[in-house]
Parts: sequence; structure tokens; C-alpha cells
Amino acid sequence: MDIFEKCWNFTKAQEYMDRGIYPYFVPVEENHGPRVVMNGREILMIGSNNYLGLTKDPRVIEAAIKATEKFGTSCSGSRFLNGTLQMHTELESRLAKFVNKEAALVFSTGYQANAGAISTIIDKKAVVITDKTNHSSIFDGVFLGASLNPGVTVKRYKHNDADDLERVMKAIDPERPKLLVSDGVFSMEGDFVKLPRLLEIANEYNARLYLDDAHGIGVGGDTGRGTMEHYGYFDEVDVIMCTFSKTFASLGGFIAGKKEVINYIKHYSRQLIFSAAMPPANVAAVLKALDIIEKEPQIVRRLQDIGQKMRREFQTLGFDTGHSETPIIPVLIKDYDKTFMFWKTLFDEGIYTNAVVAPAVPPDRSLLRTSYMATHSDNDLDQVLETFKKIGKQMGVI
Ligand SMILES: Cc1ncc(COP(=O)(O)O)c(C=O)c1O
Repeated sequence: MDIFEKCWNFTKAQEYMDRGIYPYFVPVEENHGPRVVMNGREILMIGSNNYLGLTKDPRVIEAAIKATEKFGTSCSGSRFLNGTLQMHTELESRLAKFVNKEAALVFSTGYQANAGAISTIIDKKAVVITDKTNHSSIFDGVFLGASLNPGVTVKRYKHNDADDLERVMKAIDPERPKLLVSDGVFSMEGDFVKLPRLLEIANEYNARLYLDDAHGIGVGGDTGRGTMEHYGYFDEVDVIMCTFSKTFASLGGFIAGKKEVINYIKHYSRQLIFSAAMPPANVAAVLKALDIIEKEPQIVRRLQDIGQKMRREFQTLGFDTGHSETPIIPVLIKDYDKTFMFWKTLFDEGIYTNAVVAPAVPPDRSLLRTSYMATHSDNDLDQVLETFKKIGKQMGVI
């Protein structure tokens, strides 16, 4: 049998293209923040993770240009060898301070940060306990670690369900080393993890807690320090991870924790050692975004206000916004085809959302993921609500 057989047989994407409702890989021709150009038309973007709107901030752009002029377009090597710039180490100490940890380590993507940190830290007889809906990069880190170390056991618990987590924990041999892993804010439905219960359970069962706060930092807490700050904690979580591709207006990711833990991962993570370092422009963009977040926390609060308003208004219109508690607001359509049709009608009306269907979510939770930027205007938001109302009624969703 030909190894490519499955490729010849894969026709589903083409079928949706032929029906004119394929919602993926639509190229952006121009990016003006809340407004972009797609298919030659101006589109209101409510499908971006540019939460604080910093990707088009002139200060961030200038920092990226200056770093490129000074250091070139690439680091041309691994952090381990020739690829570490003084800017990388400066960023690591700034980030560690920002999340109240002793040390931080930056990777070239958030995906690599999770895959690298988790697969490196779990070995021998470790048990990893993970929320079923954690991000795929967490699962890939877990699966990679487990395949390299056959003694590793993987346990999943129901989404954000502390009772189920406790049930799973109770059944684990107390002598085995344990890593409990969760998203801080879940990426599809925008709900916060129940951190106080997770911390209690981690302490009671002697597990280390690893929190992926990719959608939490810049979004949660009065000063944007994320899920920890949202709950009024300081440094209780053992390892914090975040990407730079959302709030931080760049590309890359980091982990932060005790200096010995970070130092171990730095010397053993294959994803760090065998991949080129974050390019200068990306590092400089994060440093500038961090300056802005620290000096202007009001942008975080503007984003939070937008999230509250949109959730309230969607619910008043009769839409189901799932578990959302943040500016990530899913609009549940609950049907595969209808989700694509709703997406296309919205797109024709000038609004871009993200269509999310199985296997990314259970089939009965097909949804349009909407997410907001601190730079959306009140007019932008009204346009979104009016358009959703019109289409929701037409399609019998509300
Ligand atoms: C929760 C979560 N973790 C990790 C990542 C990976 O980050 P990156 O896009 O920087 O690779 C993402 C991005 O989609 C994410 O949503």
C-alpha cells in the first residue's frame, strides 16, 4: 500500500471549499489591528489572539525594526551555542520578575516551550495528570515524555472538574512523582481554571503544578499578570508557561519557576537545544510589549471591560456563550455544518471569527470563537452584536 494513500483519499476540505463555506487558511492581505483586509474587502477581526492590540503598536514595531538593524534577521543557531543574545537573557530576567519567579527560559515558540519543558521534566516513574481539554502542545509534551520514558503514566480528568481530579489523584501511588498540568485560561471557551482547588489538591497529594497561561497573561488580573493575579495569588504555582504569540505581540514562549528547575530544562530540553533561537525582532517586540503592559495596565482593564460587555450582550440576545469568563467568548452553534454556514454568512457581512468543530471540541459544542482586542472601538463591538443578532435569527440559533 502507498504511504500517500490517505492523502489521495482526503477530500473533506475540498468538499467544503466546493460548497463555498471552507473557513480556514484565509489569507490576510493587510493588517490594521481590529480591521484587516481579506479577499480584497475590509473585515472586522474578532478572531485574533492579539489581546492588547500591540502587534500594530508603533513602539513595538520600532523596537523590532531597530533590533533587526542591530542584530540581523536571525540568530542563526541554537540558544545553547551561538544563538543567545544579551536581549534573550534580559528578557528572561524581566519575565521572571513579571511572574514572581526566580528564573525564566525563552523558547522559539510557545508550542516548543510546552513540549520541551513537559517532556524534559517527566521521567522514570512520573505520573502526569492533565485536564482533558488542555492545549495540544501540552499533550504533545506529555506524549513525547511518555514515549521516551516507558515508566511514565498519563492520567486525564474531566474539564476543570476538581472532584474528578481528586478521584484520579487518590488512585495514584503516593510514592510516585507527580506533575499536574492545566491551562490557566482554556483556549476555546475562555474559562479560568479553578486554581484554588487545584492548588489544594496539588499540595495534598504532593504534586507539582504546571500552569500554561498563554491566554491568561495580559488578560487576567488587574495588571495583566494572568490567572495567578486573577485569584489574588503571588507565586504558588511551580511552573508558569506563556506564549508570546498572543498578548506579547510576537512569536516565542517562556517557562518560569525555581532556578534549579529552569536550569535543568535549559540543559536537557531537546526543543531548546536543537532548534534556532528566537529572532532578534521577536525578542525586542516582547521586551517593548512588556514595557507597555507594565506602564499602561489600563489597556488590560479596557480588554476586560470589552469582554464583560460582549458576554453580557451575547447572552441577552439569547446566544450560548459556554463557560466564558474572559474576552475569549465562544458562541455555541452546536452543529458542524451550521457552524460553517454561520461563519460564512458573518464573513460575507464583513466579520471574521474562528470556526471550531470536532475534533477540537466535542461535536455538540461546535462554536464560533470570538476574541477581542483592547483596541476594538465601541462601534466595532456594536457592529458585531448587530450582525450576530441578524444572522442568529435568520439561522434559528436564537
Ligand atoms: C494554551 C496554549 N498553549 C500553548 C500554545 C502554543 O503557543 P504558540 O502559538 O506560541 O506556539 C497555544 C497557542 O495556540 C495555546 O493556546
